Amino acid sequence: MSETVIRPFAWSDVSAITAIYRHYVEETVITFETEAPSEATMADRFGKLVDLGHPLLVAERDGMAIGYAYASFYRPRAAYRFTCEDSIYLHRDAVGQGLGGQLLGRLLEASAAAGFKQMLAVITAERANSVRLHEKLGFRPVGRYESVGFKFDRWLDIVHLQKAL
Ligand SMILES: CC(C)(COP(=O)(O)OP(=O)(O)OC[C@H]1O[C@@H](n2cnc3c(N)ncnc32)[C@H](O)[C@@H]1OP(=O)(O)O)[C@@H](O)C(=O)NCCC(=O)NCCS
Repeated sequence: MSETVIRPFAWSDVSAITAIYRHYVEETVITFETEAPSEATMADRFGKLVDLGHPLLVAERDGMAIGYAYASFYRPRAAYRFTCEDSIYLHRDAVGQGLGGQLLGRLLEASAAAGFKQMLAVITAERANSVRLHEKLGFRPVGRYESVGFKFDRWLDIVHLQKAL
């Protein structure tokens, strides 16, 4: 298998990342968005992260972005400013190869270096692999919210996991 490199986001990644995310919006309950964002919208979101100095990492293989991860403010109000939430999405063909752990490990380091003190993972409760991945990297479950999402005609629970950085 070709080598995978984890590196900071570059603007040339926007198209591949938008395509990776579109799949999860349109086909899964992993994200609670229901309309796939355009490349312009994704570029705008990432621009805000870059401007804030928040970590935004890309996994690259054979010159293509095959996954990405970032940390963003958990909530916008000022007292939350040391608390971030992670997001991590692999291309559907790259799941199940250990790449999620590599990306999340690097994101934890980068988030601590950026000054965050706590990281929260907000996960659709039925996504056992994502919960397991976070637990393996030291997150612990801190709560469950029931039926807070509605997508594809069903109600969805979320779980929160937390790790001190
Ligand atoms: C979630 C994601 C980042 C995980 O990364 P990954 O490299 O694919 O990791 P895997 O799913 O292979 O494995 C993670 C762990 O879950 C375990 N796992 C997989 N399926 C499982 C299941 N149904 N039940 C319990 N554990 C499961 C794996 O065995 C592995 O644990 P191990 O290392 O102890 O064996 C990646 O699959 C992904 O991007 N998925 C789509 C987007 C997504 O869900 N993002 C997270 C949003 S919070």
